[in-house]
Amino acid sequence: MISHPTLFVLVLCMTVVPASFAGSSHKSSGETVYQAKYQLQLPLGLPAEHFTVPEDNPLDEDKIELGRVLFFDKRLSADGTISCATCHVPQLAFTDGRQHSQGIGGLTGLRNAPTLINRAFANKQFWDGRAASLEEQVKGPLFGPTEMGMASHADVVSRVAAIADYRKWFKRVFGSEVSIDSLTKAIAAFERTLLSGNTKYDRFNAGDPQALSASELRGLELFEGRARCNQCHSGFNFTDEEYHNIGVGWNKRRIDLGRYSVTSLQQDIGAFKTPTLREVARTAPYMHDGSMASLEEVIEFYEQGGIANPFLDSEMRRLELTMEQVLDLYDKKTPTSTPPKQRVIKLDLTEQDKGDLVAFLKALNGEGWQHIKPAEQLPR
Ligand code: HEC
Ligand code: HEC
Repeated sequence: MISHPTLFVLVLCMTVVPASFAGSSHKSSGETVYQAKYQLQLPLGLPAEHFTVPEDNPLDEDKIELGRVLFFDKRLSADGTISCATCHVPQLAFTDGRQHSQGIGGLTGLRNAPTLINRAFANKQFWDGRAASLEEQVKGPLFGPTEMGMASHADVVSRVAAIADYRKWFKRVFGSEVSIDSLTKAIAAFERTLLSGNTKYDRFNAGDPQALSASELRGLELFEGRARCNQCHSGFNFTDEEYHNIGVGWNKRRIDLGRYSVTSLQQDIGAFKTPTLREVARTAPYMHDGSMASLEEVIEFYEQGGIANPFLDSEMRRLELTMEQVLDLYDKKTPTSTPPKQRVIKLDLTEQDKGDLVAFLKALNGEGWQHIKPAEQLPR
């Protein structure tokens, strides 16, 4: 028998969460996403108009619950040791605390596991945006040799279909047998319910001037002002959903080409998707390669102007040459010469400024995902 705790949890969210703020003066309730048979209450600060649900995968209670159970089921990996939750641990806001994630047989890749909160507000998935939807994304780790290492679609389907409770559950939700399509839909539907909002920042924005401390407020002013963070970390989810080369990894021998491997466009060399900064205090280490251990280290990196390289993003405002001049210099580079250098311009932050920026980033811890727990009982 499979129980349906999600229904309970959602009811709990809608009643208990607003009530828990009843003592304070601010407006805490957020917007609601309406689906045919289902309503999702968004935490304060997340706009329903930007919440995307594909037409062929509407949200419903039973599907989301199926996705949750699949997300925690290690039987979806080649040797039965790894589930999605191994690298996306709920308590760490769905990251794994490692520099590089570890999959089957202790194998590691080269990238850091990003948070899964608020993914419903974006289409492009992965650091380089190579998956165009959450549904498509699921196949990456399932078949990734250093992740869950399954051999083929048929392999996954037969594994899941061999479990009687799953067979019945898929039939009930999708009206058909287990398929790779329905499996990815269920997991994606679950992921869309991993939200984070109602942070101190959101309450401040909603009109509560007391929500941010003096230091957090100075941090916000720097973030939007002199430190220019919102050039890229813009909007309600603190991301422009674009790709930028800020120089991460350019001090290493081996360079990850990032978005370039998807588009083959020179301007995308070393560019990665701007990550959300919601929950960022819980998701160390940082950057696509997990190379920065703390928020202090990240701020210091920006203070230094990122790492100079021929393709450093112009929005870092550090470039003195045009893209054409840079490419020209790069073309003239011989195998023995070093890439053309660019002068980097520091942000000139004081120690207090740096502390205030970190304080502000910590004020982006919110709620909307803490109710997610591992499946109490796996289907048999
Ligand atoms: C072995 C560790 C590992 C496992 C297992 C794993 N992931 Fe990930 N996940 C990662 C890493 C690392 C990345 C970043 C990879 C990249 O961008 O190239 C990632 C990226 C993602 C993203 C993109 C998020 C974004 O901001 O673009 C989503 C969504 C995701 N994983 C969901 C899942 C789901 C669902 C599963 C199970 C089917 C899963 N992951 C299993 C490590 C893992
Ligand atoms: C030019 C665009 C741009 C600007 C300006 C910018 N960022 Fe970023 N930020 C990015 C990109 C892109 C990444 C991911 C880079 C990578 O992994 O290679 C990132 C990563 C981060 C991370 C790591 C998040 C994680 O989950 O790993 C933090 C924290 C961060 N930025 C904070 C800031 C702060 C604070 C400022 C202002 C001082 C700032 N950013 C300015 C684009 C930008």
